[in-house]
Amino acid sequence: MIKQGDITKIYDATNIVDVIGQFVRLRKRGVNYIGLCPFHNEKTPSFNVNTARGIFKCFGCGEGGDAVRFLMKHEHYSYPEALRWLANRYGIQIEEEQASAETLALQNERDAIFHVNEFAQKYFADLLFNDEEGRSIGLSYFKERELTEETIRLWGLGYCKDSWTDFTDNAIKQGYTTESLVKAGLTIEKEDTKKHYDRFRGRVIFPIYSVSGRPLGFTGRVLTSDKTKAKYVNSPESIVYSKGKVLFGLSLAKSHIAKEDLCYLVEGNMDAVMMSQQGVKNVVATSGTALTEEQIRLLKRYTNNVTVLYDGDAAGIHAAFRAIDMFLSQGLKVKIVLFPDNDDPDSFARKHTQDEFQQYIKEQAHDFIIFKTDLLLADAQDDPIKKAALVKEILVSISKIPDTIERAAYIQKCSSILQMKEDMLAKELVKILRIASYKQYKTEQQQEEHTFTENEPSAKLKDIEEPYPDDWQERSIIELLLNYSNTTTRQNVIVDEQGTIEQQRFMTAAYVVSDLINEGIKFDNPVWQVIFEIYHEYIANHNTLPDIKIFTSSENETLRKETTAILVDSDKYELSSQWQGKYNINIPDRFYPDIVDSHIKQTLLYLKWHKLEQRRTKLLADIKAASSEEQTISLLEELNLLTEGLRILRRELHNIAK
Ligand code: CTP
Ligand code: MN
Repeated sequence: MIKQGDITKIYDATNIVDVIGQFVRLRKRGVNYIGLCPFHNEKTPSFNVNTARGIFKCFGCGEGGDAVRFLMKHEHYSYPEALRWLANRYGIQIEEEQASAETLALQNERDAIFHVNEFAQKYFADLLFNDEEGRSIGLSYFKERELTEETIRLWGLGYCKDSWTDFTDNAIKQGYTTESLVKAGLTIEKEDTKKHYDRFRGRVIFPIYSVSGRPLGFTGRVLTSDKTKAKYVNSPESIVYSKGKVLFGLSLAKSHIAKEDLCYLVEGNMDAVMMSQQGVKNVVATSGTALTEEQIRLLKRYTNNVTVLYDGDAAGIHAAFRAIDMFLSQGLKVKIVLFPDNDDPDSFARKHTQDEFQQYIKEQAHDFIIFKTDLLLADAQDDPIKKAALVKEILVSISKIPDTIERAAYIQKCSSILQMKEDMLAKELVKILRIASYKQYKTEQQQEEHTFTENEPSAKLKDIEEPYPDDWQERSIIELLLNYSNTTTRQNVIVDEQGTIEQQRFMTAAYVVSDLINEGIKFDNPVWQVIFEIYHEYIANHNTLPDIKIFTSSENETLRKETTAILVDSDKYELSSQWQGKYNINIPDRFYPDIVDSHIKQTLLYLKWHKLEQRRTKLLADIKAASSEEQTISLLEELNLLTEGLRILRRELHNIAK
């Protein structure tokens, strides 16, 4: 457990723009920063970062919160992990109180794996240059494949001796435990004999790094063409390494990808290494796995443009087809380069000069439609049935693109390439889209039903998301509480039995809370009710106001999202007051004291009015359904009172408006 005092220090030191800027490209816009939201697919930025308040908010997907929340969500950190990350970044010493045995164990296990991996990476790399066997076998292999020493060192490549236990023995000598070696997958424990041996023996080593450059795992390649041995051996999945969540080469490529605003995606490790040696440094490899959504997410931190470089064989084409649709549906722009004659990027790069290679991948990068049509058309020839299937195939890809305008542009292109009428293609596309959205609706419904019955909290959350009557009026009150808490307001109050009215000064939040409590008003939306009660609690019992952080950093997702939305929304008003000052244009501003006072009054009146209207509607229904004359009369009396109340409210609202 991190001590509360340290947590405060961390929060104080945290600069949210700096933190989020590590993962999202941010641009300054007015007093805030904006960027593309990393939590959903978008092309125009709706992700806002507010420095002054230390919060972020996405108006596209609703995600919002503070820097800690961002790290938890984006890096999948736990709360303490996120705090530790920040402490580390801002050089804050933290003193940990007794951690729970469980988190401690997990943390230790992770650290242990990282540590042995770091040791292993250095050990293997060292053998490659400084050991007789390493040089004669490992290094000469890489040289045969035309890698320079510079490249080898840059990628941290290595060699594991062809001995059963050389690596394991040395690691143990250095103090690493067998347990951590086995957990990291570097050492294999035989089930029956419990004997230990090196997983990567007799192989050259490609370390796999995290985005920040720590070794997560390894890939080892055999040196012989011995078909009885697997060509590649990988670290097994562990708590630090998961094959589908990493991209080989990303730590080296990321800055180049961002700079070029383009990423080259290849299958093989060797392809990535060779391309970087050939001057194409914005390259990553999927390491032969089928591309995953997590990998696309990783890429999207740096660019929205991908060029896929796959072998021209059947497997490569199949992989490319699959990758295209995934990229398209994530809103990325994708191009494809195929290599001729059984070449892969590595072999092709070796056969050509840097310039030739770079020119080739630029010139041959085709739009996915041209790529698909070329390939499929060759196969379809004059067969009308095959051609229809081809058209469908291409339209399915187009249907994956989230952006409507872009889809239309592709339909146009497709029409000219395939020589087919645009409106016909468009109609066909609509059909496909309809089926797709129906399918999505179905699965979402199933998932919802599932979570609904399975656990209560999410069922509650669903309730909260239902629309409430007068939600806008209720929200406006919460806006007052969150925004004007520290200000005072002058309001009329009745000071004696004769109804004498006097102006008095109040703390805004206290005035709002007591006014609504006096009138016995409750919020229909439970989220607003919770916030209101917290304010009431603080004012009534502690005579202070709650820190806004308890909402914007709340564990409760709905609470966090709604309050950050309100706060960021409100900042637009702040901006408008700056314009007013600067350009002397008249924008009504709620931050001017007298305007604020009447705004507060108006907001309260509107809520009361709406609540009374609600009661009136209900009363009218009750009167209709009344069973006795007696009941009807008493209900009618109530209605009279209500109507009178409404009239007064309306008059007051009218006065304010004047
Ligand atoms: N791969 C793997 N396990 C295998 C085969 C392949 O993990 N049994 C992964 C490796 O990361 C490899 C990638 O898939 O880099 C592509 O495989 P392949 O094309 O067979 O290898 P190349 O990268 O071309 O390797 P090389 O050029 O050394 O033959
Ligand atoms: Mn290859």
